[in-house]
Amino acid sequence: MDTFDTILTRRSIRQFTSNTIDEEMQKKLLQAAMQAPSARNTQAWQFVVIDDRQILREISNFHPYADMLKQAPLAIAVCGDFQLEENVDYLALNCATATQNILLAAHSFGLGAVWLAIFPRKQRIKDLRNLLDLPDDIIPISLVAVGHPKEPKGLADRFNPEKIHHNSW
Ligand SMILES: Cc1cc2nc3c(=O)[nH]c(=O)nc-3n(C[C@H](O)[C@H](O)[C@H](O)COP(=O)(O)O)c2cc1C
Repeated sequence: MDTFDTILTRRSIRQFTSNTIDEEMQKKLLQAAMQAPSARNTQAWQFVVIDDRQILREISNFHPYADMLKQAPLAIAVCGDFQLEENVDYLALNCATATQNILLAAHSFGLGAVWLAIFPRKQRIKDLRNLLDLPDDIIPISLVAVGHPKEPKGLADRFNPEKIHHNSW
């Protein structure tokens, strides 16, 4: 699949088969994440790879939109590192680019994935920090559930010329 097709056909996948994601594939997803652009190239991110069924289930207990984690074989918590970037807004932006890279890489490999919001929800940040035992200078920004898709999802064409402005509003 070429890059443009990958971007156009990516969708959020929330139903997964029971097949696991092997370590080689996990590494590719993380490689894609770490290749993302970051402000001043700080690469101020850290990743927690979660494949423990009990931990995945516990996240779905406190996150109101994460039921798919009861099925998903894998989740990657994308976290910001305050030691490498002190501005939380930049941390969030940098982790967002990494998160999108994981989604696109997963789709290009025929996997399914969905972005789960953590930042800026204070309670979710706190709950995930406690569950994963994150140090104080690490803030969880997003969580990506990944698996082998069990739902067909087609192209959602969102191109809207009304949202384009030339030179001024
Ligand atoms: C910042 C952000 C937070 C999101 N949080 C959740 C979430 O908590 N749970 C969920 O199921 N989907 C979540 N999504 C996925 C969106 O619902 C989804 O991207 C959107 O509906 C468009 O559908 P598509 O991804 O299939 O194109 C999130 C997406 C973004 C960008």
